[in-house]
Amino acid sequence: MPVLEVKQLQKRFEQNEILKNISFSLEEGDALSIIGPSGSGKTTLLRCLNFLEQPDGGAIYVKGSPVYSSGDRGRLPEAEVRRRRLHFGLVFQSFNLFPQYTALDNVKLAGELLAKERPDYREKRREIRAEIEDRARSLLDRMGLADRAGHYPHQLSGGQQQRVAIARALALEPDILCFDEPTSALDPELTGEVLRVIRSLAEQRTTMIIVTHEMAFARDVADQVIFMDGGVIVEQGPARQLIEAPKEERTRQFLNSYG
Ligand SMILES: Nc1ncnc2c1ncn2[C@@H]1O[C@H](COP(=O)(O)OP(=O)(O)O)[C@@H](O)[C@H]1O
Ligand SMILES: [Mg+2]
Repeated sequence: MPVLEVKQLQKRFEQNEILKNISFSLEEGDALSIIGPSGSGKTTLLRCLNFLEQPDGGAIYVKGSPVYSSGDRGRLPEAEVRRRRLHFGLVFQSFNLFPQYTALDNVKLAGELLAKERPDYREKRREIRAEIEDRARSLLDRMGLADRAGHYPHQLSGGQQQRVAIARALALEPDILCFDEPTSALDPELTGEVLRVIRSLAEQRTTMIIVTHEMAFARDVADQVIFMDGGVIVEQGPARQLIEAPKEERTRQFLNSYG
């Protein structure tokens, strides 16, 4: 059974159809890269998966359970939305760390969010808090940031902030980790450190969706690639095949524009 199944997903903003019947699935341990020109709907798709936007139709299943179907529009209690959102961890273009908290506290907050869903949270609060802190420290360590735990976002470089944001997303223990152009806000000399971290997550078979304009990265790190244009999936295939030998003319044109 795939970890994620998206069926006929639709999203409109006023009269504009932004996502037109998007369907795809993602297998456990696979990395899926989504490429496509600006305005093709990539961010909107990730936002729909993460409940930051309400789709207008279709269905989303995680491990066979519905997390969205057009029938439950507007009817879900807030607690249920929160619980379902925890299937996904989202890393934005612009990091979005809380500026008033240290790196460690940013990661711990995500851990708390997850822990609050545990039935034993009240009774074992002290132990759980200690676990959250250990786990946050070990995630920062995995991101190469053990010595930056006490730093505030403004004391960190963009690449370091983005790695904190990745640690924070991992603290949610998501079924699917999503990246929205994770390096596009970074100076070129800082993209490498972030791409290396994502590559190592892929090597550890983290289930991921990566929206990126780094074509060589998508080719080397993703298992599958989807090319989107104008709110539709134009082409989908194994990463190397799609990037090096696309079948569709529109995909070819897009890739050629990247030189
Ligand atoms: N909140 C919004 N309200 C109205 N239009 C939006 C909104 N968000 C995105 N759009 C429009 O949806 C289209 C797709 O945007 P987006 O998903 O950001 O594309 P991409 O991430 O591929 O660049 C664009 O035309 C954009 O202007
Ligand atoms: Mg976008």
